[in-house]
Amino acid sequence: MSGHGEAQVMISAKSGPLKGVASVPGDKSISHRSLIFGAMAVGETRISGLLEGQDVIDTAKAMRAFGATVTRLGEGDWTVNGVGVGGFQEPADVIDCGNSGTGVRLIMGTMATTPISATFTGDASLRKRPMGRVTDPLSLFGTEAYGRKGGRLPMTVVGAADPVPVRYALPVASAQVKSAVLLAGLNAPGETVVIEREPTRDHSERMLIGFGADLHVEKTAEGHVITLKGRPELRPQTVAVPRDPSSAAFPVCAALITEGSDIRVPGVSQNLTRNGLYLTLVEMGALIDFENPREEGGEPVADLRVRFSPDMKGIEVPPERAPSMIDEYPILSVVASFAEGVTTMRGVKELRVKESDRIDAMARGLEACGVTLEEDEDTLIVHGMGAGGMPGGATCATHLDHRIAMSFLVAGMASKREITVDDGSPIVTSFPIFEGLMNGLGAAIRRG
Ligand code: S3P
Repeated sequence: MSGHGEAQVMISAKSGPLKGVASVPGDKSISHRSLIFGAMAVGETRISGLLEGQDVIDTAKAMRAFGATVTRLGEGDWTVNGVGVGGFQEPADVIDCGNSGTGVRLIMGTMATTPISATFTGDASLRKRPMGRVTDPLSLFGTEAYGRKGGRLPMTVVGAADPVPVRYALPVASAQVKSAVLLAGLNAPGETVVIEREPTRDHSERMLIGFGADLHVEKTAEGHVITLKGRPELRPQTVAVPRDPSSAAFPVCAALITEGSDIRVPGVSQNLTRNGLYLTLVEMGALIDFENPREEGGEPVADLRVRFSPDMKGIEVPPERAPSMIDEYPILSVVASFAEGVTTMRGVKELRVKESDRIDAMARGLEACGVTLEEDEDTLIVHGMGAGGMPGGATCATHLDHRIAMSFLVAGMASKREITVDDGSPIVTSFPIFEGLMNGLGAAIRRG
């Protein structure tokens, strides 16, 4: 069992050339936040382009359980009638966040400074992931949390009845932790301050300002100092969710490694906290044109033209780039396998606590496909085999991880022999139209 229904074997065979337009769904991070911030505003927030992946659906259900009215009007079009900051009611049942670390961590923060209790759980992948990184700073507000050993779900969080504001320097570069603390700070009196040494995705800051919070960011020698004034009245918003650059990464990378490809991918975020993969690909020699730069849904975006790039070279990925491409290392390791020379990814130990241990999952799978790799706790090194060079012909384990499943299916499109994944069912968490979209471009992906 996958936790998303029955395990679904999927097989990817030599494909292409890929042609056409890849219109990927809405951004997962912004979709979660639209629902959560909407639930904390009084009045009706309207959302268009919401990602209707399982992770986001689980957050919508959770917001209903805490008292918000969440309504689906049509594809991607949703409304949220919020209960206001501090207005969450105690849920009558366990909150199941499915596969979503972002969902559970942000929601824990949101209820942490309201005097209610909630018990959270998730699928087998989420139940392995550390929650202490969120509940430790939340305890500074006066919140209590009782989980399994190692701070694992299921976990009961008891919101602080009399919260105090907090000053917290993030020990890990994590937008989820940053956002959880800011969300908790919304219902604490006074000013909550979060300091991040390395900038992580800034959607919470941008959106909170949009919803009317008094938040400012100062760039100092110790990093970004984010100050939030507690107990604002959030105003409902109209949110147009931009497309997800982390989902766009799959058709983009597929086109780069699949012979003869020439595709267009519209509206890819150029937000500096999200575009690390694209900088890296260009440094490797990827043929990507960034056309028509503009703003969409409050994010800088461009339309990408992506062509087969047989001359890509391995590079050293700067470790300080990790936060801006954290979800893209699995697919980068696939591209690196089809480049000439060595690609070194350092400073990537956060990958070990994602939906799976992504260093291990990629290393074992690529090894089975004939690629030589080196790894340690914080590093992944891929010895590229050049365009068309990967033998493939293996079955790769996806460990309930959507990005691992999609990465190996992309690898199979350009490897000599087909690649099987043991379970593609988690793909619905972030990119429910992946199979149809990729096959529409010319991929040969099928179910086993
Ligand atoms: C996310 C933050 C990142 C990322 C995740 C989405 C978010 O996690 O991996 O997919 O929406 O805040 P971390 O904050 O744990 O790095």
